[in-house]
Amino acid sequence: MSGLRKKLAVLVSGRGSNMEAILKASLAEDYPAEIGVVISDNPDAAGLVTANAAGIPALAFARNTYGSKAEHEAAIRDCIEVHAADIVCLAGYMRLLSAGFVTHFDGRLVNIHPSLLPRFKGLDTHARALQAGETEHGCTVHYVNAEMDGGEIISQAQVPVQPGDTPDTLAARVLAEEHRLYPAVIAQLCTVDT
Ligand code: GRF
Repeated sequence: MSGLRKKLAVLVSGRGSNMEAILKASLAEDYPAEIGVVISDNPDAAGLVTANAAGIPALAFARNTYGSKAEHEAAIRDCIEVHAADIVCLAGYMRLLSAGFVTHFDGRLVNIHPSLLPRFKGLDTHARALQAGETEHGCTVHYVNAEMDGGEIISQAQVPVQPGDTPDTLAARVLAEEHRLYPAVIAQLCTVDT
């Protein structure tokens, strides 16, 4: 099966728990994708350590070692191409990608966001959901376009907001769903045309 698997490039900036969820899912023999490379803009990202320990190429591209955003993105784009990734998964990648980068990977660049988009684009989604008095919250996997958190929605998972929730308790409930949803959506994308 492994020769038929789609290749993923996963971009992380920090903890990398979504990357790890994809990694764990890909250990199943019938999972239709495998991670070919993990890329980070942050050399200290824990996700790089996790990937490395699993024997996956894990590469850091620190923004301050490039003269411009365009050069930084070009280096990342080249790395993705070298590893022949079919799908590029943003998993806690904290940098806005340019329209040029996004267009280059049109239709194969996806992201997971911790809210029920189009509600709560951007940061601090859990605190904002609580503040707004939401009774339901969740996460979204979507295609990436040039508008932050604005691309076409592929799939969502809901969780209830419970009395007494704090941003942390709500985040943990959402994160558990993220870890289920993202690998499932990727599997779906990787079996669509095979
Ligand atoms: C997740 O909540 C994800 O939805 C958001 O950033 C967080 C990344 O967490 N985009 P991790 O690095 O995958 O643990």
